[in-house]
Amino acid sequence: MLQGKKIVLGVTGGIAVYKAVDLVSRLRKQGAEVRVVMTEHAQEFVTPLTFKEISGNQVAVSMWTSNQEFNVEHISLANWADAFVVAPATANILAKMACGLADDLLSTTLLAAQAPIIVCPAMNTGMYENAITQENIAKLMQHGVTVMPPAVGHLACGTTGAGRLPEPEEIVHFINGFFAQCTGDMRGLRVLVTAAGTREPIDPVRFVGNRSSGKMGYAVAQQAAERGAEVLLVTGPSALPIPANVKAIKVETTKEMLDACLEAFGSMDVVIKAAAVADYRPRDVADQKIKKKTDDALTVVMDKNPDILKELGSRKEKQILVGFAAETQNLLANAKEKIIKKNLDMIVANDVTAAGAGFNTDTNIVKFLYPDGKLRSLEQMPKTEVANLLLDAVMEMRQQKM
Ligand code: PMT
Repeated sequence: MLQGKKIVLGVTGGIAVYKAVDLVSRLRKQGAEVRVVMTEHAQEFVTPLTFKEISGNQVAVSMWTSNQEFNVEHISLANWADAFVVAPATANILAKMACGLADDLLSTTLLAAQAPIIVCPAMNTGMYENAITQENIAKLMQHGVTVMPPAVGHLACGTTGAGRLPEPEEIVHFINGFFAQCTGDMRGLRVLVTAAGTREPIDPVRFVGNRSSGKMGYAVAQQAAERGAEVLLVTGPSALPIPANVKAIKVETTKEMLDACLEAFGSMDVVIKAAAVADYRPRDVADQKIKKKTDDALTVVMDKNPDILKELGSRKEKQILVGFAAETQNLLANAKEKIIKKNLDMIVANDVTAAGAGFNTDTNIVKFLYPDGKLRSLEQMPKTEVANLLLDAVMEMRQQKM
């Protein structure tokens, strides 16, 4: 998405300026051309020379320097860019933008900007949560500025809360998603993805679960968002961060996943169920931790859970419905049965006993199987690549249906 894109990066004065250096480097690696504008305060943290070396371009710092690259610097930059990104964006620059102030090169350039603007607020939690900052952010959004929410965590001022600048990698994903929503092949499509495993409680401290890490489903959600889709991720517990530009609902049990999926299903164009769903749940959940007894065995009676995918299959109208099949034997026969039983458009079958495939690996080895028996076998590849090929297949199926 970023190949050949021209990005003006505004850098304002906060401790997170150091992350902006890495951001420039990552944007360039993805093929973007980056020109940096620094405020006076930003230069207290990192020198323009660092950004000049990393961006490969002169850094604009003042309206009044005589060695400017362009004739009227702020207007030229404003016209040159495909997008403006302000990272980190202090409370001060947000307030100036919200008021239309233009008292330095960056604020003047932003006021003259013709291209879309993305801001990444980063500041102390109190400043971020202050009603005035929130009003300024709301006003900017009303005027079409895109705001990447700050991360929550430990801040340089010693407190913990919202206000951290997200990691450069996440900002790049966000910018990619932003461009994808303008030009990606999946723009305008609503995609529901499920990921990770569900957990069924036995007592307050124990559960029945499985080995799913969420890597496969999160990769699908991320790639769909980067291709411009509006993505809803319904996820069981996972250590992975929610991908940029993806809306997430976190669930624990199969019943919670079912409810979230049913509520969203009607408005979806595509549903991809990569989650490993518990087929059974303990009939009785103990209120207190079950104590060790003298018996050698503990019997937990399990009841069958609803089959979410089958339920969605029975309600399918316009949606493309894709399931996954995690098998340890008879891969194709079992996958074929699931396609029919669950009324799917396609199933992604993986033999989870194969090395480099299945649970908690960065790669997968899968077969795409269709209701008419058509089969496509993929070699071992990163889960992000599997995700992209899967989305290509989904787009082909949509075209055929139209
Ligand atoms: O998360 P990772 O560590 O990256 O691992 C990836 C994965 C192995 C979990 C993934 O590639 C995968 O195979 N997911 C499907 C796992 C699974 O539950 O397979 P299944 O054959 O039991 O179920 C078939 C399909 O029905 C799946 O799409 C599943 O989401 C769905 N299902 C199953 C049971 C149930 N009660 N409700 C469901 O919706």
